[in-house]
Amino acid sequence: MSPLVRYEIRDRVAVVTIDNPPVNALSAGVMEGISDAVERGDDDADADAIVLIGAGTTFIAGADINIFKELKTREQSIERSQAVHARLKQLEDAGKPLVAAIHGHALGGGLEFAMACHYRVAVATARVGQPEVQLGIIPGAGGTQRLPRLCGVPLALDMCTDGKMITAARAKQAGILDAVIDGDLLEGAISFARAREVAKERRRTRDLQDKIRDRDAGLAACQAIRTRLLGVSRGARAPFAAVDAIEACITLDFDAGSRREMELFAECVLSTESLAMRHLFFAEREVAKIPDVPKDTPARAITRAAVVGAGTMGGGIAMAYANAGIPVLLKDVDLASLARGMSVIRKNYESTLSKGKITPEALSQTLALITPTTSYDGFADADIVVEAVFENLDLKKGVFAEIAKAARPDAILASNTSTLDIDEFAAVSGRPAQVVGHHFFSPANVMKLLEIVRGRSTSKEVVATSLKLAKQLNKVGVVVGNCFGFVANRMLAYYMREAYLLLEEGASVSQIDSAIIDFGYPVGPFGMQDIAGIDVGWRIRQYLKSVGKTRAEGPQSAVPDRLYEMGRYGQKTGAGWYRYEPGSRTRIPDPIVEDIAAEEAAKRGIIRHAISDEDIIARIMTALANEGAQVLADGYAIRASDIDVVYVHGFGFPRHRGGPMFYADTVGLRTVLARVNEYRDQYGDYWQPSPLLEKLAREGRAFHGDTP
Ligand code: CAA
Ligand code: NAI
Repeated sequence: MSPLVRYEIRDRVAVVTIDNPPVNALSAGVMEGISDAVERGDDDADADAIVLIGAGTTFIAGADINIFKELKTREQSIERSQAVHARLKQLEDAGKPLVAAIHGHALGGGLEFAMACHYRVAVATARVGQPEVQLGIIPGAGGTQRLPRLCGVPLALDMCTDGKMITAARAKQAGILDAVIDGDLLEGAISFARAREVAKERRRTRDLQDKIRDRDAGLAACQAIRTRLLGVSRGARAPFAAVDAIEACITLDFDAGSRREMELFAECVLSTESLAMRHLFFAEREVAKIPDVPKDTPARAITRAAVVGAGTMGGGIAMAYANAGIPVLLKDVDLASLARGMSVIRKNYESTLSKGKITPEALSQTLALITPTTSYDGFADADIVVEAVFENLDLKKGVFAEIAKAARPDAILASNTSTLDIDEFAAVSGRPAQVVGHHFFSPANVMKLLEIVRGRSTSKEVVATSLKLAKQLNKVGVVVGNCFGFVANRMLAYYMREAYLLLEEGASVSQIDSAIIDFGYPVGPFGMQDIAGIDVGWRIRQYLKSVGKTRAEGPQSAVPDRLYEMGRYGQKTGAGWYRYEPGSRTRIPDPIVEDIAAEEAAKRGIIRHAISDEDIIARIMTALANEGAQVLADGYAIRASDIDVVYVHGFGFPRHRGGPMFYADTVGLRTVLARVNEYRDQYGDYWQPSPLLEKLAREGRAFHGDTP
């Protein structure tokens, strides 16, 4: 018997317990162990039924994601799938009732194993799902064939194309679960199994037909979801493959449908899309591992917070805390500013309410956690104070000095500055070890990224607390160094530089945005700036001019400044890079912008010409990767994959491309370097290859170790 799977008899029921921490992932050993144990139970004269259960915190979180990298060819993948499918059919053919007892999660292969059991019971807190599309693949162990048979085609399509988990209650109602157990799961599962044995019941999922019998309705559902996916999949292939596999469940018998699933799975698992998404799965977990901050570094509990500045960011940050159930004081200079801030917060929650994403009771409970104030009363109770006042060094230093007096000596003081030096605030705080940057992204209650900016003196405990807090706030915390723009905005400056220059050279605003959207972003550089506000960038440029700096070396396009001077700040003024009809966010191309670009190009002696979408992507992505390499070499990001996580969660970089550094690896660093050199020759010395990029390209390596 495999050490990963235990076998015992309880009340004449064979209890098979999977014990492969942390999540009982289905390694080869676990799968073999389950098969052997179920076979033993079937043969065991002391057992009338069999229960499959997980040890620890979960049932099974799916296949071990690491094993997919061993698959190098289609044949290999299909051969492996055939073996797993055969194993599951064997379970399903067990002669005694086989019951899966689910707590925690039954995901991916975990749900597929459960569906191959005759029955499934779960505790009320359990979640089940087929999250494979989030790894660029489809269910590979019969999930696309068994799930529709249990819950019907529409729900199976939803679960396999969006990858979201569903609750035990929903799964029970849909037919995926047979019972939700109150009280002890194992005891409940044992009595459920005994009852099936007494009733001589055994149900093989693959024999079920009722919920897939209406072929026309099933096919129509497939077609409808394909149409919907076109609008939301952003170029990812796996969701469409999942639909194709479910369609095969409707049109073919179980074995033929399973073969179709195997073929589609092989196509997906070998794709760059899947490599990229699996890379991100591990990258998102790796970010929390900081080389010099041991795992056991104590992280303080954050139970009360305070935010200073109730503007765009302060309001969003207060909402993020309240959404996590943490009471938060929100301070501004006067009642008028506070009222403005609170009314924006209320409007945001009301919009969530109108979309049915929150109940009226939850809304009032959450809102009640935010206490507006114009004084520092109560700040002494806060575990953390977040500063989010105007981006002005002297103002912020003054505010930090005030906060330092009002807050408890051990409280963490965080700044949401986008550009200023965290160490300046540390210097006036009287507690430099507790000062850190918490750089949220707008809208702060929605965007997942939190850059945790480590100052010169920030303590390890504060870093560990910030990472834990990020999770609590439902954010992805990435620890970055204290340089101008940190990681996200420092690189963004290069992305925007190229967008501006491409515009001057002859590409249109809408062509550049469309090329980036076709690449997989939700919005292009110009559309994004119309949302963020052209005035915001203008203010940063003014500040930089005053200190004799630029954000990204090279020609500084005058086009955004001219739009600012015309009062075109973006959506908020009805015009920016695009124009907008009153009350609408539809981007309407505006010839005035092209005229301005042409004028500025003429001033710089540029002869405008047609530029292909491929060249647009190559220029912009090369700029990002080259600056990313410099950020890495300078030590402002811990690893290349952290930069990928920053870009995916901060700016909507398409997940199926893995992030800017992973994408560069897939292009090949020799090609990326050749492009940088070509651009230097063509456009000027402001293009310089990062020495790290040169070194890796020369050695035939990639940012993430081996070339994908
Ligand atoms: N394979 C390998 N490792 C896994 C894993 C998996 N399926 N699921 C989780 N892990 C690892 C994580 O990498 C992490 O490792 P480290 O501690 O070393 O970083 C550890 O388990 C704990 O995971 P989380 O930090 O994510 O823990 P959590 O409590 O926040 O979340 C979870 C738990 C919801 C189960 C989450 O881990 C998760 O969503 N896992 C992946 C589920 C999934 O995608 N399953 C489908 C796999 S593909 C498949 O099954 C194909 C098929 O059809 C055969
Ligand atoms: P904002 O102008 O919307 O809000 C600033 C708020 O601070 C105003 O309500 C103002 O009354 C208040 N304030 C000013 N002085 C104060 C004081 N002494 N005490 C209390 N409140 C005071 O500005 P926004 O956009 O929210 O920016 C705040 C900070 O967040 C800045 O540092 C900015 O760089 C940063 N940031 C902004 C992002 C954005 O997209 N807007 C993104 C990430 C960071």
